Amino acid sequence: MIDTRALDQLAERLRSARAVAAMTGAGISAESGVPTFRGNDGLWRSYSAADLATPEAFARDPGLVWEWYRWRRSLIARARPNAGHLALARLQSRLPGCTLITQNVDGLHHRAGSTGVIELHGNIWRARCARGCGFVADESRVDPGAAEGDDDQPLPACPCGARLRPDVVWFGEALDEDLIDAAVRAAGSCEVFLAVGTSALVYPAAGLPLIAGRAGALVVEVNVDDTPLTPHAGLVLRGKAAETLPELESRV
Ligand code: OAD
Repeated sequence: MIDTRALDQLAERLRSARAVAAMTGAGISAESGVPTFRGNDGLWRSYSAADLATPEAFARDPGLVWEWYRWRRSLIARARPNAGHLALARLQSRLPGCTLITQNVDGLHHRAGSTGVIELHGNIWRARCARGCGFVADESRVDPGAAEGDDDQPLPACPCGARLRPDVVWFGEALDEDLIDAAVRAAGSCEVFLAVGTSALVYPAAGLPLIAGRAGALVVEVNVDDTPLTPHAGLVLRGKAAETLPELESRV
């Protein structure tokens, strides 16, 4: 049951706030059919992050890593932004000082119409030079998951001769400094911080709502379950993002 009184009060707070930040995790895309990482059907229940999402794994077996990312691309290519993504896009256009930060690599916020999204963990549709020459390719059109089940696909190569790798952040890698700086600034200066569909376990992203809370913002958690963030949240909206966010947005 959605707490409509809490939603009314939050909507008023959002309307009067000079700056708002929202950070999403895999939970917001769950209802689009994109698997989360840590739930019962989460990817890390069936797949090993060490074998698939580390620089060492790519050095050891780039074909296996690409196969897994192409499979994930094929799932995402079939997915559509859901009511939660669309509500956040509308909130962003209604609240001029609203910064949207995501840990998701699926690009669904962009497809929902959000602009200026801070994609902390990269984007699965981009590939970049594994040696670091700076080359980046947008593969959203050329590879809409077409390689599903095709293990004989050649490995993508960079014009410089090195391998291309998915432009995502792997375990053990640092986030893009400009992006995390922008996210920390948004967290530290907002009046309301919405943490949507994230297990709040992976840092530095998990630290952003804490930064916001310490700076005096109202931290709101939208999640179907408790997380380590729950005790630090000023308001907990227990429910699915695709149901809760449209209810909130319609009140703003
Ligand atoms: P997780 O899979 O860790 O957590 C998903 C969260 O969404 C959980 O807290 C669920 O309770 C919640 N959830 C599930 N369905 C929901 C729904 N319909 N509405 C609202 N909440 C829902 O995903 P993240 O927190 O995004 O990093 O994971 C963080 C990072 O860990 C990912 O970006 C990825 C992963 O390893 C990298 O790959 C670097």
